Amino acid sequence: MTDQQPSSRPNLRQALELAGSHFVNLVEIGILKAFIDFGVFDKLPESDDESSSITVAELAARVPNCDEATLERMANFLVAAGILASPSPGRVAHTPSSRAYCTGQVPAGFIVHVYNFLLRPVACWSTFFERQGGRLAAPVDSHHNPLGLATGHPDRDLYGILDAEPELAKLFNAAMQGSAGIYSLDGVYDFGWMRDLLGLDDGPVIVDVGGSSGGALVDILRANAFVPPVRCAVLDLPQALEGDGTGTGAAATTAGTPGVQLVSGSMFASPLPAPVGGALVYHLRRVLNDFPDGAVVQALTAIRAACRPDGTSRVLIVEELLHPNRSKFSVAQDIFVMNFGGKRRSADMFGALADRAGFRVNAVLEDEATDFGVVELVTV
Ligand SMILES: C[S@@+](CC[C@H](N)C(=O)[O-])C[C@H]1O[C@@H](n2cnc3c(N)ncnc32)[C@H](O)[C@@H]1O
Repeated sequence: MTDQQPSSRPNLRQALELAGSHFVNLVEIGILKAFIDFGVFDKLPESDDESSSITVAELAARVPNCDEATLERMANFLVAAGILASPSPGRVAHTPSSRAYCTGQVPAGFIVHVYNFLLRPVACWSTFFERQGGRLAAPVDSHHNPLGLATGHPDRDLYGILDAEPELAKLFNAAMQGSAGIYSLDGVYDFGWMRDLLGLDDGPVIVDVGGSSGGALVDILRANAFVPPVRCAVLDLPQALEGDGTGTGAAATTAGTPGVQLVSGSMFASPLPAPVGGALVYHLRRVLNDFPDGAVVQALTAIRAACRPDGTSRVLIVEELLHPNRSKFSVAQDIFVMNFGGKRRSADMFGALADRAGFRVNAVLEDEATDFGVVELVTV
């Protein structure tokens, strides 16, 4: 015992420091979310110059529906955390960090996204596990998940929840659109193999399954001018094709590439709608990681049934791939999507599911910097 004390004491101190840092991080994210919601960062003077600080009372007066004493307590934390500056007692000013949380900035959107899709559901994990019979077990059925519990929709999958929560849907779609640029296939995947096959018949060429506003398909068509848009389609749920009424729907996005068909339907329904049967490419970008394994196999099985009998169809799964040894962030994303029944997968994990649906992995193309990759499947 005596021998162990010198080493165990520092360990306990380190463990407590670590636990304390988790606590402080949670307080920080709570305050950031509240300040973003109330636009507090927007009300600070623009300049970095210390003379541009204002008193907490002045700041509180600029923020609608704000209690000065509460603002002060929260601002004290952000000053202690180095997110706000306080050039003299009672005064606050922007720092480069706080500017990132002004309205419209990507980090501000990220905090709101993390709050809604991680913190809220995590607070329901105990209830969720209780409902799983007291088991520590991730959702196996997309319609029963912690996000559903957190939002009062315990029987809906992610897209059903978003349907019922338009404000949440706007935030989700904005986050998706904000990050769409990094998933460009240009220079990553070569569609050249299709050239010789296009003339053999006039069947569908590319179907963007879960293509939402059609942005990915439009990008592919721009980079591959030999592909006729009239032989391409977006297959998605009706509400996704319509958009949220602010010009974000597929009809608006694909207007510049006339002829692209917008097909309303579900990737889980077999057979898939007739216009998307027999395509050369079924492209699924950021779709399958939102679902548990069983649903992924169901969707791939429906797609397999729609593939051309001559073996020329390919499926492109475009996702951020799981790299347990590469980064903590990559694994954190897996836990994030678990909240709504999703799962981040490695290429091998996709291979195992593809095998159950009648496909095999033909190629994996990866961009190490972003974790984003393309898993190409062919029929067996
Ligand atoms: C995260 S978004 C990705 C959108 C787009 N592929 C992208 O990368 O920007 C997932 C898409 O899958 C669609 N989706 C969800 N369930 C679906 C289903 N059962 N059948 C077809 N699409 C579905 C959603 O409507 C949504 O548009």
